[in-house]
Amino acid sequence: MAKVLVTGGTGYIGSHTVVELQKKGHEVVIVDNLSNSNIDVLNGIEKITGVYPLFENIDCVDYVGMDRMFEKHRDIDAIIHFAASKAVGESVEKPLMYYRNNLVSLINLLQLMPVHGVKSFVFSSSCTVYGQPDVLPVTEKTPIKPAMSPYGNTKQISEEIIYDTIHANPSYNGIILRYFNPIGAHPSAHIGELPIGTPNNLLPYITQTAMGLRSELKVFGDDYDTPDGSCIRDYINVVDLAKAHVVALKRLLNIKSKQQVEVYNIGTGKGLSVFEIIHTFEKVNNVKVPHTIVGRREGDIEQIWADASRANEILKWKAAESVEDTLKSAWKWEKALKKQRQQKEKEENEASSN
Ligand code: NAD
Ligand code: WQD
Repeated sequence: MAKVLVTGGTGYIGSHTVVELQKKGHEVVIVDNLSNSNIDVLNGIEKITGVYPLFENIDCVDYVGMDRMFEKHRDIDAIIHFAASKAVGESVEKPLMYYRNNLVSLINLLQLMPVHGVKSFVFSSSCTVYGQPDVLPVTEKTPIKPAMSPYGNTKQISEEIIYDTIHANPSYNGIILRYFNPIGAHPSAHIGELPIGTPNNLLPYITQTAMGLRSELKVFGDDYDTPDGSCIRDYINVVDLAKAHVVALKRLLNIKSKQQVEVYNIGTGKGLSVFEIIHTFEKVNNVKVPHTIVGRREGDIEQIWADASRANEILKWKAAESVEDTLKSAWKWEKALKKQRQQKEKEENEASSN
């Protein structure tokens, strides 16, 4: 069993990964500055696993704060680094914020690893590094295209920083996971995605529209060169994705040769269109998603899905959940959020009437 630092561990993918790590008996320390998540997530994790994780509210950009954190939580074996800003549109408006947050955080962690004897590093990268590929599905050897946004560029630069750093430090090992489109929530509905403000991603927009929180979903384009005209993505269940981190960690801890970086695509290997997602969501949840077709969204790629056979073969990891069950979990989570809101309102009303 290992002691694992999970940065961004109260976030969407991080929280699901903490659950899977704890289930395997690993000890987890979460560092998160709560810039895009909520402290209540820790209660959700405890409800599932029975273990309230160790938590430090620290900004990974703060080198001294992170150094102190490593002094306090000694003998950390590995880092899984999720903490980053991730909104593509915002990154176009605030590029320096993205470069600073995503790159300085990474550099701090890589600098602190030898200081504190940490040898293993797992990094959250993205299929965004492939842009619109010429050949589908994409393997890890598919050429990287020029980034379409500062956010995407931070992932490309981060990968290069990791390669260079590990190349120069014989005792390091790293795994870069390129996620496709994570969706869904934990089947317990104790944790899930918590978009702040208007969601940018498809699934939270669908669930909020089905709930009546948004009047309609805008489908960005039905004139693409795809069977039904809408864009195609590889939607990966978030618990499956979380499990990929656990097997990546296992591989890093057991690896004999040092100074190595491996890259894996983490997807289902199957592409689904926006319309297929909407219609499947409606069918399995027996709920309507009002939607209209509007123009294409700037920067959207037409279609992409993963060849995940490398992860299947080497990590022995495979996406297991069906899209139907995944879309059910997303809806169950949206309904759980509604209950939470109602409960909060009730408590506020009671407090104001006392
Ligand atoms: P998220 O926003 O839910 O989680 C990120 C967490 O990191 C948040 O809890 C946030 O508060 C925290 N954080 C951000 N900057 C920080 C800092 N400087 N110091 C400490 N904490 C900080 O996002 P997510 O969807 O869980 O994504 C996790 C990682 O996966 C990110 O690196 C993201 O770029 C990457 N990724 C996400 C997707 C996706 O579609 N969700 C796809 C590919 C890659
Ligand atoms: C999916 C599909 C939209 C919203 C983004 C980032 C990428 C990665 C994953 C982090 C597209 C369509 C969406 C809506 C719609 N993140 N859509 N109406 O664009 O594949 O990838 O998240 O690394 O970097 O760019 O995901 O969920 O935004 O969109 O029609 O209101 O749904 O056009 O085809 P995307 P998404």
